[in-house]
Amino acid sequence: MEKSNDGLRVILFPLPIQGCINPMIQLAKILHSRGFSITVIHTRFNAPKASSHPLFTFLEIPDGLSETEKRTEDKTFLFTLLNRRCEAPFHDCLAKLLVSSDSETQRISCFIHDSGWTFTPSVTKSLKLPRLVLSTYTVSFFLNHFALPKLRREASQDSEQDDLVQEFPPLREKDLVRLLKEKREYLEPYLNMMLEATKSSSGIIFMSCEELNQDSLPKAREDFKVPIYAIEPSFSNFPASSSSLFTQDETCIPWLDKQEDKSVIYVSFGSLATMTRPELIEIACGLRNSGQPFLLVVRVGLVKGTEWNEVIPGELKATLNEKGKIVKWAPQQEVLKHRAVGGFLTHNGWNSVVESVCEGVPMICLPFIWDQFLNARLICDLWRVGLHLEHRIERNEIESSIRSLFFGNEGEAIRERMRLLQEKVERSVKENGSASRSLESLIDHISSF
Ligand code: UDX
Repeated sequence: MEKSNDGLRVILFPLPIQGCINPMIQLAKILHSRGFSITVIHTRFNAPKASSHPLFTFLEIPDGLSETEKRTEDKTFLFTLLNRRCEAPFHDCLAKLLVSSDSETQRISCFIHDSGWTFTPSVTKSLKLPRLVLSTYTVSFFLNHFALPKLRREASQDSEQDDLVQEFPPLREKDLVRLLKEKREYLEPYLNMMLEATKSSSGIIFMSCEELNQDSLPKAREDFKVPIYAIEPSFSNFPASSSSLFTQDETCIPWLDKQEDKSVIYVSFGSLATMTRPELIEIACGLRNSGQPFLLVVRVGLVKGTEWNEVIPGELKATLNEKGKIVKWAPQQEVLKHRAVGGFLTHNGWNSVVESVCEGVPMICLPFIWDQFLNARLICDLWRVGLHLEHRIERNEIESSIRSLFFGNEGEAIRERMRLLQEKVERSVKENGSASRSLESLIDHISSF
């Protein structure tokens, strides 16, 4: 029988980007379904929509970011600024909450923050509140990315090698070169603080399961020496759509209803990736030439300095519209779940990867930044449920990868492996599955504080 957690409140603190808000809100939904009350503290920047979650309490703190700072491309700089500016308001907010909760019947049992908030240990220590960390990356990326400053110092800059990076398998040398090219000036001090905050926490939570992290989970347990929970790879029970910062174009679904089973290639690059105008045109031409129906998400800001999809010439757009649909933001989980979708051309953000695996949709991988390079290798080299574009954003490559995925023998083998992986992941959340057991331990852990 489930234990009652009535009377216990958990405080959550997401990092304000879409790929981090979604898993935190999913975690909130899971904990709420197990009887905990939920308070979400969030920045004014990219505030989650409180009205979509009437059962949670939302508290906003000022972040002091200017409009220019919000748009910076150096995400480590952005996160460093946020950590500096939010510490004092966060401390005040949490202290007030703790005082007011004493006078009520409800006890605050713990605080869970995104791994990107690094100032938190001193605050929770002074307030004597147990603290857990949520990583929105896959376990192997989280585990190994602390070695990136060292790898940057040692890297040979122009390697196009296929060799595996010893410290970071199954990442390849050529991925590492791309990853290290990203502008991340404040990386080393930021990662050092993150490591400290993680090691001094009462545990780490991953939105994943053992089946997707076989080698890395035991290593993470050994390295971090705190309890590790991989609790929920299947987002179907707790959809992310309600935490969207963008307006979803709901016309995608009736359009998909008109398409044949498993005929559509869905194309989306998440909330952060950017590309050049020629790259978007190459992708559009590859889609057109493949002859498959497609649903293409062109997020505002995907091509820097543009309003929306005006970079696609009118004539090409007209041909594209005959076979496909272009939207600013899609209800992604619903799209991936739809019977008409047969493939996903993706940037490989971890949420997108998990959502695709859960719906059994094979992928074409085009990673742009950060953990996406590693995720793409997991998909193509380890699980073998996708094709890798090897960073070639060329119309012919895109066309032929779509054809191989939908019609070739390789595509068939990939679909079969994806079906088996999906089944494994589904089993993990059933009674006695790995994620289900891990969730039970997490609930016990939180209840014991
Ligand atoms: C960021 C990083 O880029 C990613 O590498 C990291 O793993 C998490 O943080 P993001 O780029 O937004 O995330 O990608 P992803 O992790 O895939 O998250 C995007 C979320 O937005 C997903 O939950 C997806 O369902 C949702 N989405 C995306 C939509 O709802 N509609 C869209 O059109 C596109």
